[in-house]
Amino acid sequence: MYDFAGADAVCRALGVEVRGGRAAGKRARAMDEAGQHQAPGRDAPAAPAAAGGPPPTTASTPATPPYHETPAHPREARPLDFRGKRYLAPLTTVGNLPFRALAVSLGAEVTCGEMALATQLLAGRPGEWALTKRHPSEACFGVQIAAGYGDAGARVAAAVVAHCPGGPPDFLDINAGCPIDLVCDKQAGAALLRKPARLESVVRAVVGCAAGVPVTLKVRKGYDDGKDSVHEWIPTRAVSWGLAAVTIHGRSREQRYTRAADWGYVGRVAEEVWMGREGGGGGSGGDQPPPPPRPSPLLQVIGGGDVYTFHDHERHLAAYPHLATTMVARGGLIKPWLFTEMAERREWDISAPERLDLVSRFCSLGLAHWGSDGRGVETTRRFLLEWLSYAHRYVPLGLLSERLPPELTGAERMGLRCPPLAGRSELETVLASPDPGDWVRISELVLGPAPASLRFVPKHKSKSLYVVPGKRDGSEGGGGGEDDEENG
Ligand SMILES: Cc1cc2nc3c(=O)[nH]c(=O)nc-3n(C[C@H](O)[C@H](O)[C@H](O)COP(=O)(O)O)c2cc1C
Repeated sequence: MYDFAGADAVCRALGVEVRGGRAAGKRARAMDEAGQHQAPGRDAPAAPAAAGGPPPTTASTPATPPYHETPAHPREARPLDFRGKRYLAPLTTVGNLPFRALAVSLGAEVTCGEMALATQLLAGRPGEWALTKRHPSEACFGVQIAAGYGDAGARVAAAVVAHCPGGPPDFLDINAGCPIDLVCDKQAGAALLRKPARLESVVRAVVGCAAGVPVTLKVRKGYDDGKDSVHEWIPTRAVSWGLAAVTIHGRSREQRYTRAADWGYVGRVAEEVWMGREGGGGGSGGDQPPPPPRPSPLLQVIGGGDVYTFHDHERHLAAYPHLATTMVARGGLIKPWLFTEMAERREWDISAPERLDLVSRFCSLGLAHWGSDGRGVETTRRFLLEWLSYAHRYVPLGLLSERLPPELTGAERMGLRCPPLAGRSELETVLASPDPGDWVRISELVLGPAPASLRFVPKHKSKSLYVVPGKRDGSEGGGGGEDDEENG
C-alpha cells in the first residue's frame, strides 16, 4: 500500500492538519491498486496510455523519491513569467488536450488543463489522470487541481509532480473559483473563498509538496454577489504564501457567468499587491504618481473575464498596468484565432473555409489523441460538438463592422446577434447555426456519418443570444456575457 508519509510530514511541518482515519487509508489503497503510485523504490504498473494514465516507472526512467519530507521553500520554485503572455484558461470538457494544441498552434503561449479533482486523482481514476496530460506543443502547461483541504492538496501535488504523464507540469494551479455545487459541497473550488484560512493551508501544502514547480491560484472576486472579498487577503496575506501568480476572475461565485466581469476591482487588487498596501479595494487616487507598469515581483496578478478581442486584452493591460496579463476563456472557445489576433495585433476577418480548416485540424488532433478507431472517432466528434456549441456564436467580423457601432466592447459584440444570422456563404451560415443538428452535420464533413442515434446535448449550457440592438426576445437571459454556464 502506498504511504503518504512524505506529504503528511510536509503538512505537519507546516502546521496543516492531516485528517487520518479510514478515508485516507482507502485513498492510498485505491491509488496503489490503480497503479497510479509507487512506494519508494518500487515500480508502478503501467496505466493504459489511451486513458492518459501516468507513465510507468521503468529501468530507463529512474524512480525519483515521490515526496520531499521537508516542505519545499517557496524560493525553490522555478521562476514563471506571465507578463503579457497569451493565456488560455482552464476549461472543463472544452479545454481538452486537442483543443489546447489547436489554440497553441494559433498563438496561445500558456495553457492549463481542465480542473482535476484531488479526490478523484487520489482515488487513481484514469479519466482524471488523463486531465494532467499535455500535448508536446504546450510549452508552458499547468495542471489545475481542486482540493478542499491541505492534506489532500499536499498529497495530490506530490503525486502530480511525480507522476504527471510526460513529466512535471510547468505549474500547478489551485482552483478556488469553481462555482458548481458538486465541487463547493466538497469544500473545494469557490467554497474556499469563504474560508481564507483553509485556502491558505491548501496553498501552503501544495507549495510545500510541489518540489520546485511554481504554484498559482485561481479565484473569483468573492463568493456572494455584492460582497467582494479577495482584496481582503490577496494583497496582505497571499503574497507570502509562495504563489507565483493569482488569477482573479472578476465575477462572484453567486454571479457565475452572468453580467460583465468587474475589471476595475481586478485592477485595484493588482495595484494593491504591487503597492504592498493593506487591503481595502480602494484603488489608486491621491497625489501619488502611478508606479511603473509591471507586476509585483512578489505575486503576479492575472485578470480574467470577457476577453473577446485583442482590443479587450490591450485595453485591460493599459488601464490596469499592475496586471501581468489577461486570461482568455470563452473568447478563445468562440474564436480560437483570437490568440493570432493578440499576437499580430490585428482583427482577422476569418473566412468560413478557414474556420472549417480549424475544425479539421481539431479532428486530426482529436484522432491522434483519442484514437482513430470507431470509439476514437466518436469521442473526437463529441468533443468537437462541445466546442461547436461555443464556436457557432462567432459573428463574422465583416458582418459585424457593417452593422454595429465601433465602440461596442468584444463582450457586447459577442452578445448581439440578429436572428437568423445570414453568412456570406452557405458554409458561414451553417457555422453560425445554433441548431445541434447543424453541428452534427459539420462534424460529418470531417469525420464521416454520425451514428443515426446521435442526439447531441451540449454539456455546458452555452446560450446563443438572439438579441437585436435595443430589443430582447425575453427568453435568453440578455446581452453580452449573460450566460449561465455551469463550469469549473
Ligand atoms: C466551459 C467552461 C469551462 C470552464 N472550466 C473551468 C475549469 O475547469 N477551471 C477553472 O478554473 N475555470 C473554468 N472555467 C472558468 C474560466 O476559466 C474563466 O475563468 C471564466 O470563463 C471567465 O472568463 P470569460 O468571461 O472570458 O469566459 C470554465 C469556463 C467555461 C465557460
